[in-house]
Amino acid sequence: MREDARDAAGRVDEQRLWQRHAEMAQIGAIPGNGVNRAALSQEDIAARKLLLSWAARRTFTVSVDGIGNLFVRRAGTDANAAPVMTGSHMDSQPRGGRFDGIYGVLAGLEALEAMHEAGVTTRRPVEVVAWTNEEGGRFAPCTMGSMVFTGARPLADVLDITDNEGIRLRDALADTLAATPHAARRDFRSPAAGYIEAHIEQGPLLENARKTIGVVTGIQGLRWFNIEVFGKTDHAGTTPLALRKDAMRDAIAIINALAELTHDTQDITRFTVGRMLVTPNSPNSVASHVLFSVDIRHPNPQTIARLGDAVAPLARKAAKFCGLKVTPTLRDDPCVFNVPVTDAIEDAAQTLGLPHLRLPSGASHDAMYMARMCPTAMIFVPCEKGISHNEAENAAPADLAAGARVLTAALIELANR
Ligand code: HGY
Ligand code: MN
Ligand code: MN
Repeated sequence: MREDARDAAGRVDEQRLWQRHAEMAQIGAIPGNGVNRAALSQEDIAARKLLLSWAARRTFTVSVDGIGNLFVRRAGTDANAAPVMTGSHMDSQPRGGRFDGIYGVLAGLEALEAMHEAGVTTRRPVEVVAWTNEEGGRFAPCTMGSMVFTGARPLADVLDITDNEGIRLRDALADTLAATPHAARRDFRSPAAGYIEAHIEQGPLLENARKTIGVVTGIQGLRWFNIEVFGKTDHAGTTPLALRKDAMRDAIAIINALAELTHDTQDITRFTVGRMLVTPNSPNSVASHVLFSVDIRHPNPQTIARLGDAVAPLARKAAKFCGLKVTPTLRDDPCVFNVPVTDAIEDAAQTLGLPHLRLPSGASHDAMYMARMCPTAMIFVPCEKGISHNEAENAAPADLAAGARVLTAALIELANR
């Protein structure tokens, strides 16, 4: 390990990192020690302002792109060199935890602070990015900011997506961009020499194996759909079943058929219906419209393709009484991370004497998209019992700092290549 990298890793300040998590957790705090910080909400804006207030204390420069991805840059000696990037997201699930996403942003900022305090210079600039709307909880699909930044989907495609209240993304985005006027505007797809994202594992493997650092090898594939069932509302007491166009009845039949499709005795396949909107949503009126989400995941490329391609035909077969609209909203094939970057992470963990383990990611991350644009990998740290997307999500200050030390050393290594 380079001497400057070891020195900077030693400057990671566990207390500062933990304290910043505590301050961020105040934004959108909910009972049970969780957070609700929806993308492009007032809480998201408050988190952005807090991040920028910390960046302003240093000579770091700030920029923002057209979908609100926020970048904090520490200059390198070669201003024209493509930066090495790190980061994650600050938005959360509605009943989210204090570490999912925000850890990767704060660990990235901590790496810049440690480099600064160690007086380390790097050839390449190093940038921390806070991606817009990674969770997709308010505006589906997930990983939207990194998807648009890397050119996987045009911005125009997502601007009219609405949340449950009918608010358009474009309007929430305009408010969010207006809230950080001093951040210089930047283009999508600006070159990057590499990307490392630090994140809590959101699973139990590291904790069970008593390892501090996860060297993440890739992310499983996922397919998202919105399925809409169009029926007719009627009186629950007087309308014979034979005459009904009951959207709820067809929705249930479709969900049961998809559960059968994804049934897997090894419990590797993931199938989730997490959102359902019912109209008129009244106990004694037959449902005229049901919209529900479908999230299917699998690590094998052929399997996730087969399962995803089966959704629409199966839904059509299961819907006996009503009209149907199946809209694919996300298709991410499994991704394998860049070996030289995973090796740099593993070398850093090894040199810093941190027990580590190579493992795949069950959760998706913005690294899924950055992996299509530049050499990319991830660092995991343990979270208690693997719990996440739940207020009880918890992590240890020492583990968060250990992950930030490995990140700091690996970033310096990449920024001098
Ligand atoms: O859905 C996911 O895997 C991520 O946590 N947004
Ligand atoms: Mn996350
Ligand atoms: Mn998440």
